[in-house]
Amino acid sequence: MTQVLFDYSRQDASGASCIAQAWAKTPEPLNAAGRAEWKARAAAQLAAHDAVLVAHYYVDGDLQDLALETGGCVADSLEMARFGRDHASRTLVVAGVRFMGETAKILSPGKRVLMPDLDATCSLDLGCPADEFGVFCDAHPDRTVVVYANTSAAVKARADWMVTSSCALPIVRHLKAQGKKILWAPDRHLGRYIQDETGADMLLWNGACIVHDEFRGLELELLRREHPAARVLVHPESPQSVVAQADVVGSTTALLKAVVEGSASEYIVATDNALMHRMRQLAPGKTLLEAPTAGRSATCKSCAHCPWMAMNALKGVVACLETGSGEVVLDETVRGRALGCVERMLAFVEQHPAGVATPGFVPRLGAA
Ligand code: 13P
Ligand code: SF4
Repeated sequence: MTQVLFDYSRQDASGASCIAQAWAKTPEPLNAAGRAEWKARAAAQLAAHDAVLVAHYYVDGDLQDLALETGGCVADSLEMARFGRDHASRTLVVAGVRFMGETAKILSPGKRVLMPDLDATCSLDLGCPADEFGVFCDAHPDRTVVVYANTSAAVKARADWMVTSSCALPIVRHLKAQGKKILWAPDRHLGRYIQDETGADMLLWNGACIVHDEFRGLELELLRREHPAARVLVHPESPQSVVAQADVVGSTTALLKAVVEGSASEYIVATDNALMHRMRQLAPGKTLLEAPTAGRSATCKSCAHCPWMAMNALKGVVACLETGSGEVVLDETVRGRALGCVERMLAFVEQHPAGVATPGFVPRLGAA
């Protein structure tokens, strides 16, 4: 296990920003025989405990394959939440980051929710502490509080709405049509993108994803000149200079679908590179290029892989099922308060399936 330090941005209630530090533990990689052995052990444990594996596209490819081979799912944040809520298993193993496990528990308090490593967090969640966020909300009581899924249960407990990248635009459009002014947290890039697309009055918290914040507009422009026929796919947590060059902006599912269904043979992908695993499986003939995180306008080279998603390992799945470790436990009052904003989003998505970019595309840019 290697421990790595990361800087991330956070804001206080007065709007002042600072840089704070977090860490992640990276598990040692396994050789081919070890991977096969631990995958078989994890599959056996899932069956023995009548558990289902709910995985995000950014976790290790072996975990994604295990989820699909054992009747679980690999999905974006919205679909993970729905799948966990609707599945009959009494034990959910959530391979992703902490807020995904918490969302599963908020929706399914009667189920046991386990995670391979409970310390797997997210710079957006870290950058928006519940106490500071509460003071910020108190200072703007005239605004409807809309938070991104990448927040703690305690932050969701203060929110009127939760959104994910696949449904943020139609929900904010809906609120704007009702004349609502919005307080948005925590991702400044996603917030600005929604603001640009909808024209809504939004007050933005100043958080960022440490992975997507590293994509660079200037270097993307240079790469596009070398590959003029490539379509550019961008997750909206990326900076404005990168989003501005996109052919498709959307959730992880929307970007995957753009590659699978798109007519182009070449794609530049600005999101965590673990999504390439599923893209290669579903579109084997297509050329995938990683959007640049290095070059003249970059501070250093980033690996474009979330350090906290990387904490999820086959061994962790086995350990949490064998020992009951990594269980997500929420204070019942906080859970009950957080449930309202999650359920409001899910009800909206169920009532407006056409407007939601899962499994389709973000409306502005259309199909690839
Ligand atoms: P999606 O909801 O698009 O899967 O995004 C989750 C996330 O954490 C992206 O960094
Ligand atoms: Fe959070 Fe970014 Fe990791 Fe997604 S990729 S979980 S937003 S730090």
